[in-house]
Amino acid sequence: MFSKFGCLQSLVVTSIFATKCYGALYESVSQLPGWIYDFIIVGGGTAGNVVANRLTENSAVSVLVLEAGVSDRGVQDIEIPLLASLATPNTAYDWNYTVAPQQGLYGRVFSYARGYVLGGCSSVNLMVYSRGSSDDYNRYASISGDPGWSWDNLQYYIKRNERFTPPADGHSPIGQYDPAVHGYSGINSVTVPGYPTVIDQRVLRTTQELSGDFPFNLDMNTGNTIGIGWTQETILDGARSSSATSYLEPQFINRPNLHILLHAQVTQLFASKINGSKVHSFHTVQFSENRQGLPITNYNVTAKKEVVLSAGSFNTPQLLMLSGIGNKTVLDGLGIKTLLDNPWVGQNMSDHPLITNPFYVSSNQTFDPIFHNTSLLASDIAQWNATYPHEGPLVDGRGTLLGWLRLPNNSSIFQKYPDPSAGPHSSHYEFIFANVFAGSSPPSLGNYLTIFSNVVSPVARGYVTINSTNPFVQPIINPNLLGTDFDVYVAVEAIKSARRFANASAWADYIVGPYETWANATTDAEIEAYARRTATSIWHAVGTSTMSPRGASWGVVDPDLRVKGVSGLRIVDASVIPIVPAAHTQAVVYIFAERGSDLIKGAWKI
Ligand SMILES: Cc1cc2nc3c(=O)[nH]c(=O)nc-3n(C[C@H](O)[C@H](O)[C@H](O)COP(=O)(O)OP(=O)(O)OC[C@H]3O[C@@H](n4cnc5c(N)ncnc54)[C@H](O)[C@@H]3O)c2cc1C
Ligand SMILES: *[C@@H]1O[C@H](CO)[C@@H](O)[C@H](O)[C@H]1NC(C)=O
Ligand SMILES: *[C@@H]1O[C@H](CO)[C@@H](O)[C@H](O)[C@H]1NC(C)=O
Ligand SMILES: *[C@@H]1O[C@H](CO)[C@@H](O)[C@H](O)[C@H]1NC(C)=O
Ligand SMILES: *[C@@H]1O[C@H](CO)[C@@H](O)[C@H](O)[C@H]1NC(C)=O
Ligand SMILES: *[C@@H]1O[C@H](CO)[C@@H](O)[C@H](O)[C@H]1NC(C)=O
Ligand SMILES: *[C@@H]1O[C@H](CO)[C@@H](O)[C@H](O)[C@H]1NC(C)=O
Ligand SMILES: *[C@@H]1O[C@H](CO)[C@@H](O)[C@H](O)[C@H]1NC(C)=O
Ligand SMILES: *[C@@H]1O[C@H](CO)[C@@H](O)[C@H](O)[C@H]1NC(C)=O
Ligand SMILES: *[C@@H]1O[C@H](CO)[C@@H](O)[C@H](O)[C@H]1NC(C)=O
Ligand SMILES: *[C@@H]1O[C@H](CO)[C@@H](O)[C@H](O)[C@H]1NC(C)=O
Ligand SMILES: *[C@@H]1O[C@H](CO)[C@@H](O)[C@H](O)[C@H]1NC(C)=O
Ligand SMILES: *[C@@H]1O[C@H](CO)[C@@H](O)[C@H](O)[C@H]1NC(C)=O
Repeated sequence: MFSKFGCLQSLVVTSIFATKCYGALYESVSQLPGWIYDFIIVGGGTAGNVVANRLTENSAVSVLVLEAGVSDRGVQDIEIPLLASLATPNTAYDWNYTVAPQQGLYGRVFSYARGYVLGGCSSVNLMVYSRGSSDDYNRYASISGDPGWSWDNLQYYIKRNERFTPPADGHSPIGQYDPAVHGYSGINSVTVPGYPTVIDQRVLRTTQELSGDFPFNLDMNTGNTIGIGWTQETILDGARSSSATSYLEPQFINRPNLHILLHAQVTQLFASKINGSKVHSFHTVQFSENRQGLPITNYNVTAKKEVVLSAGSFNTPQLLMLSGIGNKTVLDGLGIKTLLDNPWVGQNMSDHPLITNPFYVSSNQTFDPIFHNTSLLASDIAQWNATYPHEGPLVDGRGTLLGWLRLPNNSSIFQKYPDPSAGPHSSHYEFIFANVFAGSSPPSLGNYLTIFSNVVSPVARGYVTINSTNPFVQPIINPNLLGTDFDVYVAVEAIKSARRFANASAWADYIVGPYETWANATTDAEIEAYARRTATSIWHAVGTSTMSPRGASWGVVDPDLRVKGVSGLRIVDASVIPIVPAAHTQAVVYIFAERGSDLIKGAWKI
């Protein structure tokens, strides 16, 4: 696979400039042509591939990406949008993490998906493209003390990321988005749904019938998210657009100064004290070739300029702690030598509880049969395979419309809690409308509508920590879902709101009734019990290496994303985002990574 780029596979030299090697995707460390690079990026995920792309725009800069996971090439469940729900959890493309018992969920545990594949979570996510509100970003600017993170100042980076493209079926998207606020010359494809579903018009009719509570929003990416509208998705011509398919392939991966090694799990970073300085400078990255059946062998590579951690909200703090940056008490307990005592590493996690509310419906035109009937699935895949742009029911993610909604201003909960949302353009809860059963234990027969009702301005904070020095043991992940009365209140109100939405006359001849799991939950207490019994995460964890002002007594990175108190180390991934946006997180990660790349280039004048 690598050899298509004409790289001499067995050549081992000390600098990549000693060989005329084309950029490549290496499957084995024996193919890696060098051990010293200007920058080493840990994790070829959503953010990591953005940084790899932007830094290698300068041909004099050499970059190595170390990705623990596997290749994304040719994987149907990754490429075909509607099959995304099959890509994780507990597959060859997942880290197979399980959360710590959740107090707010009756002590339940559940699988927490993370992409173990080039492209990271952008290769396995559900492709919703939502930037968040202007308020979300203005709060990041205010928390970090850096106006560069404000909505207005990030517009340039939003446009560098986004390339709005026509939907798969080629229909005009006018009326489904606001053309004025989109980017057309960025890298990552964004579009609107390319296959009409039977619920689309009913959702829209409900926004007219109940416009006071559920207004239509032409475009939730203008800075004001509030209302219900068409889902924008990271899809190109009916196939997933990930950081791997956009920022690397097809063309950028050919840059001779960009090397990517798969199956390379970074296990520790090593520091030295340069010129008698007291500051630890991190330049050595130890990784292990991580292929089933192979013995664990460690290798070291060196970054001449910087190491960039892009391992995501769970693995970035895990690696910091394994490398001696973290809460000294915790590190002492594990026998890890503390190089920098920073108790904020792994703290401040915020995430979105996901609640699925399925309904029985009278139609047989839902997507359920695709997942019940293998010959129908095979014929839909064959149609998708045989067409380009791809056609048929598989060209979109599961939710063709979604919405962002606020509690009424006079809600009783605001007597106990100040409003935790970032501002009036940010919501407290989210609806996603799916033309299929979503939720655990899907039935093997029948037709369903699901209204997801997710808590998106949570007060609860969780954490990541380690309880082992073994880098192959998963970190402890505690998102602390429904961990405050506020979050529970929102969950209950959102479920009641979903019921009101479903009671609109637009659904009278369509919805038969709520599915068993919640049909009997009518009082607030019963609805709360239903929420605690069924909630999981929508996989939006952020904040575990949070950004804070330079010189602050808390936080992990400065506003330029350099790790506080050490040298040579930066973090560019979801973990630096201080508070979860009232949005899906991938667009925010792309935007942070675009600006993060520019901050690195600026610092090194490259
Ligand atoms: C199932 C699922 C559905 C989602 N749906 C949506 C959605 O519809 N819309 C949306 O906006 N967001 C969605 N998200 C969230 C969004 O995808 C993530 O917030 C975002 O992609 C995270 O980007 P990241 O760069 O921080 O981490 P990642 O993309 O996870 O990248 C981290 C990378 O580092 C690698 N890595 C980790 N540890 C090591 C190590 N020690 N050594 C080497 N490599 C390592 C990983 O394998 C991975 O490739 C979803 C997430 C999931 C899991
Ligand atoms: C997760 O489990 C699957 C299925 O067992 C496996 O193929 C994959 O390698 C596992 N992921 C990791 C990171 O071990
Ligand atoms: C260390 O000292 C040498 C010689 O004085 C100098 O060239 C080099 O830049 C210094 N390195 C750092 C990181 O300060
Ligand atoms: C990597 O470098 C560190 C620090 O110099 C050293 O302790 C470790 O043994 C090295 N690992 C390998 C595999 O060479
Ligand atoms: C560090 O960890 C210990 C043990 O978990 C905990 O008791 C302590 O509060 C933490 N320190 C800080 C400052 O958070
Ligand atoms: C992070 O957590 C600490 C302690 O709980 C808190 O003081 C700080 O405000 C938090 N930061 C953010 C951005 O939430
Ligand atoms: C679907 O419903 C229509 C009308 O309601 C009916 O004519 C058709 O036979 C049904 N198809 C299947 C496969 O059940
Ligand atoms: C499964 O799908 C095939 C192909 O569309 C169809 O012919 C068959 O009737 C379906 N089977 C059932 C049980 O609905
Ligand atoms: C679709 O194409 C892939 C390869 O691109 C192949 O593996 C798969 O079998 C094809 N599926 C169908 C149903 O044609
Ligand atoms: C609710 O309060 C917000 C400010 O928090 C304000 O912008 C909005 O107009 C208020 N809404 C109503 C209906 O009063
Ligand atoms: C909030 O105000 C609405 C009308 O504006 C009213 O119907 C409702 O009862 C009020 N709710 C509370 C909790 O005061
Ligand atoms: C460490 O954490 C993992 C994951 O939460 C758990 O399965 C394991 O039992 C813990 N081990 C110890 C020694 O606490
Ligand atoms: C409702 O039904 C579920 C099972 O579907 C059950 O677990 C739950 O206890 C019931 N709740 C009430 C209030 O009866």
